[in-house]
This record gives sequence, structure tokens and C-alpha cells, in this order.
Amino acid sequence: MEHTAKAMITAAHLAAFRSIAGEQWVLADEETLHHYAHDETENLHFLPEIVIKPRTAEEISGILKICNEHKIPVTPRGAGTGLSGGALPHLGGVLLSTERMNSILEIDERNLQVTTEPGVITEVLQNAVKEKKLFYPPDPSSRGSCFIGGNIAENSGGPKAVKYGVVKDYVLNLEVVLPNGDIIWTGSNVLKNSTGYNLTQLLVGSEGTLGIVTRIVLKLIPLPQYDLLMLVPFKNLEQAGEAVSAIFRAGFVPSAMELMEIDALRIVSKMVDSTAVPVTDDTAAHLIIEVDGNNMDVLMGEMEAIGNLLTQYDIGEIYFADDAQQKAELWKLRRRVAEAVKMIGYTIEEDTVVPRAELPALIRGVKALGVKHDFEVVCYGHAGDGNLHIRIRKEGIPNSYGNEAMNKVLRELFILVKDLGGTISGEHGIGLIQKSYMDIVFRDANIALMRQIKKAFDPNNILNAGKIF
Ligand code: LAC
Ligand code: ZN
Repeated sequence: MEHTAKAMITAAHLAAFRSIAGEQWVLADEETLHHYAHDETENLHFLPEIVIKPRTAEEISGILKICNEHKIPVTPRGAGTGLSGGALPHLGGVLLSTERMNSILEIDERNLQVTTEPGVITEVLQNAVKEKKLFYPPDPSSRGSCFIGGNIAENSGGPKAVKYGVVKDYVLNLEVVLPNGDIIWTGSNVLKNSTGYNLTQLLVGSEGTLGIVTRIVLKLIPLPQYDLLMLVPFKNLEQAGEAVSAIFRAGFVPSAMELMEIDALRIVSKMVDSTAVPVTDDTAAHLIIEVDGNNMDVLMGEMEAIGNLLTQYDIGEIYFADDAQQKAELWKLRRRVAEAVKMIGYTIEEDTVVPRAELPALIRGVKALGVKHDFEVVCYGHAGDGNLHIRIRKEGIPNSYGNEAMNKVLRELFILVKDLGGTISGEHGIGLIQKSYMDIVFRDANIALMRQIKKAFDPNNILNAGKIF
């Protein structure tokens, strides 16, 4: 599905953009436009009219001033790994990529902070601070390719969130270019801040609708020295869900607690050609459980105790990853699930989140919906957070966006999620494809407030318009 919006950019605009960002960074050739027409969301494509790759906040400011004056839509984009369509230029106009803003500016070892530009790959940042024995935990599956700026836009999570929290828990201060071109810092580089409204946290997760983040100050923590990883096969999927909350109730806080339904493992093992985890017919799902810390004896004791606790369920033989290579192999399998299942037709991905103990009820409900509406479904995700990714495959339906039949099914799913005390996105954002479900989880008064906030930042509605609501 390829969409083209009406042309809005004149020769005079183009000349102005070129004088600001430099001739070679304002692009309108076919190949470039097609590349930036999609992210990782379903099979959606929307062509921008032009692509601009600025290098500085000042350049972005100049570009936004022109767009604001002439009401030209602007879609900010990081690495394009998003799963809710936040970076899709569905209105055409300017696609503004932060890919050239890719410097880590300072690692402050005295204060345990890092200042970075938004176009740095998350894993590159993690590795840079790791060299100083520091830790930036949020680690989306796409960390090897996603940008830290995109992570801020979506308030991303990932496996470590269960112990260490999500992106919002690490953002101290942001430099932001507002839609009118003003450049502000949202806060201070401090660990506590009760000074006025919290604009920093308002920008986190705002999906590029309020401003364009150009510098980021993140809190770091000391790097834990050790981790242990085990894989527990369950013969019953719902029981795997039950075990998750039992582990926390018994007093453990794993540094990762992931669920992978057996079909997800089958599909990803095939894609990456791995036999690391034997797939047996009587296994329904695996839990990946990791603990970390600085005392190996304590960690071994925790793993043993968790293993003992799990014997009350119908489980198979527990597999312990012995060395760094085995751990890396397991994580590779988990991280590449989304890509693998999409490739074979599970193109629709949901990002539901419920209170942890409601996970079995969510799993039960999802499976029942699949039977009722005749779609295939495979579940995986951050079970420790109650954050379940639900991948859907239905013959002839490559996108949920714009598909009435699928929208009806998803409404049913999201009403179930809401009834269980949950919400429709835990870490992927609302973007384009989930906005029509916001009424399920919010009252009109909530949405009206959000719209007023959007208006205060962006009265001409130029920045990522038509996203979130
Ligand atoms: C994951 C991404 C899809 O958990 O959020 O793999
Ligand atoms: Zn995820």
C-alpha cells in the first residue's frame, strides 16, 4: 500500500531548506523517498515529499520556522525501527531524519551521566558507557539499529525494564526544538527536580508531536558485574504466565523475565538457523529468566530457588546458559522474534500491557479471540512487566491500519486489556495505527487535555500531525 499526499513544497521552500541544511542533505530522489516511506510497522508506506538530514539544532530550528510559517507537515524520524507508525510521513511534506546527529557528546563519570545526540544507536551508547563500567539499561529488541532519540520519542522499554525501568526513568534533561523554531532545555542535569511542570517527562513518549529532541542527558548506573540466564520450558502457556507473578511474589526481581511461545521460537530458530534450543513437541512456551548483580553466590542461590519454585508447574528440563556465547545466542533468538514472525506473515503486532498477575487471563482471552475470529496468533514479550506482544496473521490482511474487519477484532482485544486493568501500548507508542483505539482507555476529557497540550506546543499542527489522536 503506497500513499502519496498532495504536493506542498515549492521551489522557494526547497531553496531555503538547501541553504539551511546544505544542498546534499535535502533529497527528493525516488530511491530516498521510498526508503523513508516505511518503518517497521506492518506493511505501510507513505511517501514524503522531501527528506532533510540536518546536523544541528540550529538547522532544525530554521527548517521548522519555514514549515510553521507555511504549514508544511514535518515527520521526525530516528532509525525507522518503530512499530506504531510514528515515523510514517502519512501527510507527505518534510521527512526530517536525525541520522547525522550521531555523536555521544560527553560521558560524565563524576556524575554518572551521558549527554548524547539523538541519532546515536542505542547499543553503541550502551557499549560506550560500559567501557567506563557504567550502565544504561533500556534495551529494546532493536537496540543494534534503533536510535536513542526514537527511544525517547516512544518511551521504549525492552527486557531489562522489569528490574531497571524504561527510558523515562533515565532521562534527566532534553534540548528540544519547538515547532516555532525556539530551542529550549526542558530541565536540569540533576537527579531531583521539583521546579515547575515536568516538561522533560512530557516530551518523553510524545512521539515527535511536541518538539524535536536534539540533545539528551541520561542518568547512568554502575554496571552489574555478573548475570545468570536460564530457559524454562512450560508444557502449558497459561501456566508460564502464572509462574511469572509467582516469582515476584516469592521475593525475586529478575533482571529479565521474557516469554516466548513455542511457535515464536520455532520460527526465529529457523530464520537464524539455530539449534541452540531444542524444540520439543510437548513444550508450549519458554520463560527466559535472568538475574544480575555483584555477588555470584547470591545469584546462584536465586537461580536455584527460582528453579525450585517452578517445579510446582508442568515444566521440562531447565536449560542454563553457561557462558557469554550461549547467553548471546539465547538473546539473539529472543530479540529477532518480531522480525522472524513478520517475515512469515504475522504482520500485525500489538503491544498490550496488563498488571502482571493478569497475564494468564490475557493469554486465555487472546487465544479465544483467535479462534472466534479465525486468525493465527503468536505471543511473546516482556512477561515480567505484563507486556505481551501479540502477533497476528490472517490471510489477505497485511495491515490492521485501514482494515475495518481487523479493527473490530482489535477493539475487542483492547477492551479485554482495559477490563483487565491494562492499556493498549506498553512501549511501542500509539503513532498512527493505534490512535483509533484511544477512546477505549481514555475519557473525552483526557483526550481533550492532550489536544490542548499539543496545541500549546504546536498551534499550526505541523509536527507529526495525525499521530496519537
Ligand atoms: C520486542 C519488540 C518487538 O519485544 O518490542 O521484541
Ligand atoms: Zn518488546
